Amino acid sequence: MARKIIIDTDPGQDDAVAILLALASPAELEVLGIVAVAGNVGLEHNATNARKVVELAGRPDIPVYAGCSRPMRRHLVTAEHVHGPTGLDGPDLPEPSIALQPQHGVDYIIDTIMAAEPGTITLCTLGPLTNIGMALVKQPAIAERIAEIVMMGGAYFEVGNITPAAEFNIYVDPEAADVVMRSGVPITILPLDVTHQIQSTPERLAAIRGLGNKSGKAVYDMLTFSETFDLAKYGWSGAPLHDPTVIAYLLQPELFEGRHCNVVIETASELTIGMTVVDYWHVTGRVRNATYLRNGNADGFFKLLTERLARLP
Ligand code: BDR
Ligand code: CA
Repeated sequence: MARKIIIDTDPGQDDAVAILLALASPAELEVLGIVAVAGNVGLEHNATNARKVVELAGRPDIPVYAGCSRPMRRHLVTAEHVHGPTGLDGPDLPEPSIALQPQHGVDYIIDTIMAAEPGTITLCTLGPLTNIGMALVKQPAIAERIAEIVMMGGAYFEVGNITPAAEFNIYVDPEAADVVMRSGVPITILPLDVTHQIQSTPERLAAIRGLGNKSGKAVYDMLTFSETFDLAKYGWSGAPLHDPTVIAYLLQPELFEGRHCNVVIETASELTIGMTVVDYWHVTGRVRNATYLRNGNADGFFKLLTERLARLP
């Protein structure tokens, strides 16, 4: 039976590819809904982009909700310098024809989890953790009903991408990330340590472009746009591809390796705010609250992604 997932996201070119990968995998994943959060750009753009992506995938039946428009305690930090002013610059996608759902995204998350059998819904988070943190605060009873949270966020061995210490998704709302990490929900983390190994080289992008379908072309156009910033920054032959690793992990966990350990979010220090402090070597007695993945198989990942994208319009 397909695993039921809710995708919480700030699309974002890499978020868009993650959504496409999930929608291309209906035998394994049932996408119940998509919830937008403020992050890469403002909430309104992110909610529009999510609707563009489900329509690109030929799935206008997937409900899209808007969640929180700002982090719990801080001013919103955005990343137009990577994703462009709309958050999804690159492809020429039509304005969405489906409407945004009227319910607030946080209430949708709470109601859906409370109405489902406990342990049957997995939350996939591809952006700042504001919606999930707010849902856990508003209805703490969801914590023991969520099957798992699989998140793209954090960094330890590779250190930060928005500050020297912090990864963007955690940095934008460290208080929300702190609530999530302390929730007791089983958590799996796909950090920069993994995603920096998953590089969209010209050959891999050409294979996706070569699929000849609308989705392959859109993914090519998205990633060739968003990689410009990272290629200049890192000097690698391909830019890291972050958010689709969450979906790839659900589909083929054997592509990744890591360990179960303690992860705590820094919320106080001005210098290292948003840092994910990972007790990878178990040097403390802190409770092991997350599976922290450290390595990913890039060839296996791109084989999976390319095969699945071929199934879309
Ligand atoms: C994360 O930040 C965003 O810009 C990407 O979409 C990804 O979720 C990587 O740090
Ligand atoms: Ca994202």
